[in-house]
Amino acid sequence: MSDRKPIVIGMALAMSWLTRSAWRREESEVEHLFDLEHYVTLAQQAEQAKLDFLFAPDTLFLAKEALAHEAGFTGFDPTTLIAAMASHTHRIGLVSTVSTTFTPPYIAARQLQSLNWLTKGRAGWNIVTALGGNENFGLETMPSSQQRYAKAREFVEVVNRLWQSYPHTAIKADRASGQFANVDDIEEIHHHGEFFDVLGPLNIPTHPSGRMPFFQAGASDAGRNFAAHVADVMFAATPDIESGIALKQDLASRCQQIGRSPSALKVLPGVALYLAKSEQEAHDLFTETHKAFDPAKHFAHLHKALGIDFSNHNLDDVVEVNSLAKGFIPYSQTHTDLLLTYIQRESPTLRQLLARPEVIGSSHWLIIGTVQQAYDDIVQRLEQGAADGFIAVPGGSKESMRLFFESLIPMLQQNGWFKSEYIGDTLATHLTEQAL
Ligand SMILES: Cc1cc2nc3c(=O)[nH]c(=O)nc-3n(C[C@H](O)[C@H](O)[C@H](O)COP(=O)(O)O)c2cc1C
Repeated sequence: MSDRKPIVIGMALAMSWLTRSAWRREESEVEHLFDLEHYVTLAQQAEQAKLDFLFAPDTLFLAKEALAHEAGFTGFDPTTLIAAMASHTHRIGLVSTVSTTFTPPYIAARQLQSLNWLTKGRAGWNIVTALGGNENFGLETMPSSQQRYAKAREFVEVVNRLWQSYPHTAIKADRASGQFANVDDIEEIHHHGEFFDVLGPLNIPTHPSGRMPFFQAGASDAGRNFAAHVADVMFAATPDIESGIALKQDLASRCQQIGRSPSALKVLPGVALYLAKSEQEAHDLFTETHKAFDPAKHFAHLHKALGIDFSNHNLDDVVEVNSLAKGFIPYSQTHTDLLLTYIQRESPTLRQLLARPEVIGSSHWLIIGTVQQAYDDIVQRLEQGAADGFIAVPGGSKESMRLFFESLIPMLQQNGWFKSEYIGDTLATHLTEQAL
């Protein structure tokens, strides 16, 4: 038995092997994008590998232009998809995404608690304040990051109180006396806040496993404070080891300041994996996956994140950004901060910048290589305190996915980094009570 702290591993519940142009590969099975069977197979493979959870991200808008060439922008409602996984899996955690900016909290509380019963305590909530979609909800502009977090705080408070409003112990189902529930134990919440007015109680009791784990990703100052107060997992965008170490240290100190143990907030970076038998094949897979990508999109992304149009700049010019234009509001402070930190630290050329995960991906850690190389990269981050585990997004091909399940996870298990058996039955126990 090793005394090493076991890591947490989750995985995107998505056909991530269809990323960018990879859907065009012969064997991609893109025709089955909306077939339940693919998701069930993926979930069962993940459970067989003893992964801690599956994670269904979501947005509430369609990036129509991107959809012209990529499949990754359309998909199932995550809560419905997770509910469908409940009866096909038994131990693995199942995390859905619900936006606090657009959804009424009563609906969120009800749907998430329903998931918790359907999964027998395996549900989790990825709390997002959303990246866009305001036009679909009657809002002319997207509220600022600060406003969204203020609303999110109140939202989470309402959801927690609704869950407490109807404890499962209120149900007596006493045939002899005829008492179904002790209604004295079920209470209205009478919430009147800045954003919501909710009477309660909720119309579904809270599952005996207690409060489900909360995930959150935004890493602006307000986002980090929010995570330190409410989250159990930070879904971290950390393209390099430096950003991982800095984020983990910063969150630990925010937790300490409010009297919370830093180990109560796991930092799990997203990691895009392009795996193949040789390093060259992995790079070919990555190049092939990204080859049809239009550079105009990279420039549009940089413009959205920094408010600067680089399309007329020379590719070999050094990029310098000391400050952003006054009044510029980024779509995500997290993504803007990551770009600025990298540019100011490395003074890259435009060509180098355009190859970065902050530009070509979602700012996530990118591993291109053999299973051994991926293993070494992961272990390096773990040993240097840049992560408590990771959320995998294996991409590029089905072979990359196969190597993830059949080689990378077993290698982490054999070397004592990851458990080989489930200990508990709920997501909360997967996150906290692991043993190797
Ligand atoms: C790594 C990462 C993943 C995110 N995933 C989602 C998502 O699936 N759906 C969504 O609507 N917003 C998502 N967001 C947006 C955040 O919830 C948040 O609204 C945004 O980052 C702005 O917060 P910030 O100012 O702290 O950056 C994500 C953000 C990050 C950094």
